[in-house]
Amino acid sequence: MAFTSRPDAGHGLTVTVPAQPSRTDRLTPVTQEAETPQQRPTDRGRTVHGEAANAGHRVLAPDDAEVEAYLEQALHAAPPHRVETEAAEHPDTVVVLDFGSQFAQLIARRVRELNVYSELLPHDTPMSELERRNVKAVILSGGPSSVYDPDAPRADPALWSGRIPVLGICYGLQLMAHELGGDVLPSTRREYGPATVSLTDADGLFAGMERDQPVWMSHGDSIVRPPEGFTSTAQTDSTPYAGLADPSRNLYGIQFHPEVVHTPIGRELLRNFVVEIAGVRPTWTAGNLIETTVAEIRERVGEGHVICALSGGVDSAVAATLVHRAIGDQLTCIYVDHGLMRKRESELLRVTFERDLGMNLVMVDARDRFLKRLAGVEDPEEKRRIIGDEFIRVFEEEAAKIGQIDFLTQGTLYPDVIESKTSETKTSQKIKTHHNVGGLPADLRFKLIEPLRSLFKDEVRRVGLELGLPEPMVQRQPFPGPGLAIRIIGEVTAERLDTLREADWIVIDEIKGAGLYRSLWQSFAILTPVRSVGVMGDGRTYANVVAIRAVTSDDGMTADWARLPYEILAKISSRIVNEVPGVNRVVYDISSKPPATIEWE
Ligand code: XMP
Repeated sequence: MAFTSRPDAGHGLTVTVPAQPSRTDRLTPVTQEAETPQQRPTDRGRTVHGEAANAGHRVLAPDDAEVEAYLEQALHAAPPHRVETEAAEHPDTVVVLDFGSQFAQLIARRVRELNVYSELLPHDTPMSELERRNVKAVILSGGPSSVYDPDAPRADPALWSGRIPVLGICYGLQLMAHELGGDVLPSTRREYGPATVSLTDADGLFAGMERDQPVWMSHGDSIVRPPEGFTSTAQTDSTPYAGLADPSRNLYGIQFHPEVVHTPIGRELLRNFVVEIAGVRPTWTAGNLIETTVAEIRERVGEGHVICALSGGVDSAVAATLVHRAIGDQLTCIYVDHGLMRKRESELLRVTFERDLGMNLVMVDARDRFLKRLAGVEDPEEKRRIIGDEFIRVFEEEAAKIGQIDFLTQGTLYPDVIESKTSETKTSQKIKTHHNVGGLPADLRFKLIEPLRSLFKDEVRRVGLELGLPEPMVQRQPFPGPGLAIRIIGEVTAERLDTLREADWIVIDEIKGAGLYRSLWQSFAILTPVRSVGVMGDGRTYANVVAIRAVTSDDGMTADWARLPYEILAKISSRIVNEVPGVNRVVYDISSKPPATIEWE
């Protein structure tokens, strides 16, 4: 089965940490926006305590990362020894050199949709390194700089040698033109947004395409004189050099962005470059990936013992399944049932991993422990702290029973690898600070196995399905580590958990029934601390209010409330009040993020 294009649900889970500046805090831009002079007087984006909303008390992390990091802490792992595992055999690779464009990752994803492996590397990666990695084609991304900036990012000049085909996009093209003797100048007219190009070259990049094409532009500078040997291949009203090529040197460039959906020929253009011009074989499929990853894990682990924390999320599930396929019983998975999961989730996990896959699964029934510690606690951050702490204790006890552990499996994804340049997983750093774990023995170095470190989220899902994991697990919407505890406003009790679980089940059931589940980032129920008067049959009731939250989002950083059809809302509401004891009123949350968050706590 091949990777195909599907909207990426992305990943944007957060974990709780004390307020502190953070390199990895991708929520920061929201905070910064909130601090622009125009907005300051209204105090938008600030909490009632005057702190910038979301300023550091939550850190975006990959799906499942929170639970994985608790296991890491429980093992008292010093910063894991993260080896850059050498692939036994590099697949034919297309490298995207990153000049700072917000679309750089997207280019790599578009190439992967052609079943060709693609990775993102720094703009100044030496040619020797590209050759070592079996790179068959290079794409230069766009970027915010001007080629005349004194510190403008540059590329290794050996790139222009023609040994590897190169496609420059936007800034990438301007750099190529500039470095090879052409002239680039600030445009009189800045082009941003939709434009029409005339393709004047019927071969090469544009083979098989009609002459006039809508494209997406975003540039301030323009090429005014191409370097020697280059001919113009495309033009717009404002530039005669919207495309350039020197096929004798394998050099191509376009001023527009083929990676965005607003350029309909983008996919075909990339295919022409990668498959036709560079001759890359489109063999990178989920099936091949599983095969090579399994072989690599087997080789690396040898006789060692591997441990993995399952959280119910897709990343840890797929990572564990890959490792299990490679080394079978040498893997032990731990799943802590903290009682804060949704209906039937723990059961699905047990059936899948223990019964169907025959995995060594330690399922810890810790429901009572968590409930006891949460008794009487209303503060959301205190709930998160307690849950994290209890997780670590449970893992510590279980790890002690297992004995020798050599490797830790984690579901780190490619975007996290690109971002995190340190050896320590970012979530773990945060949690370590939070739980004040320090002074640990330096010799306890677990080696990390990160079988998903080259994959984007949508690819992980493809691999999961290919491995035979159940669809509800593979397509699961993000679910916070502290589970339903942060969706019960106020004290968490067994009874309130049951109420929320039933209401939540109905929400998901109806949303799935309407075919909306995958188009929503999250959809769930919240048990509010409010009781209100109602009337049922002949009697008055005084019962709980349940809120429904359904949001659309790309990454969880911003979100909009979903315009669910009234009929769906009506059905959810009537089912909840009729089927869930103790609930007589349902409300729909119509707040966007910011200023509200997705979760209520
Ligand atoms: P907020 O509520 O901050 O949520 O808009 C953004 C995304 O993060 C998830 N979230 C959490 N995930 N531990 C997690 O693992 C947490 O404590 C946590 N709090 C929020 C939330 O579900 C959403 O996808």
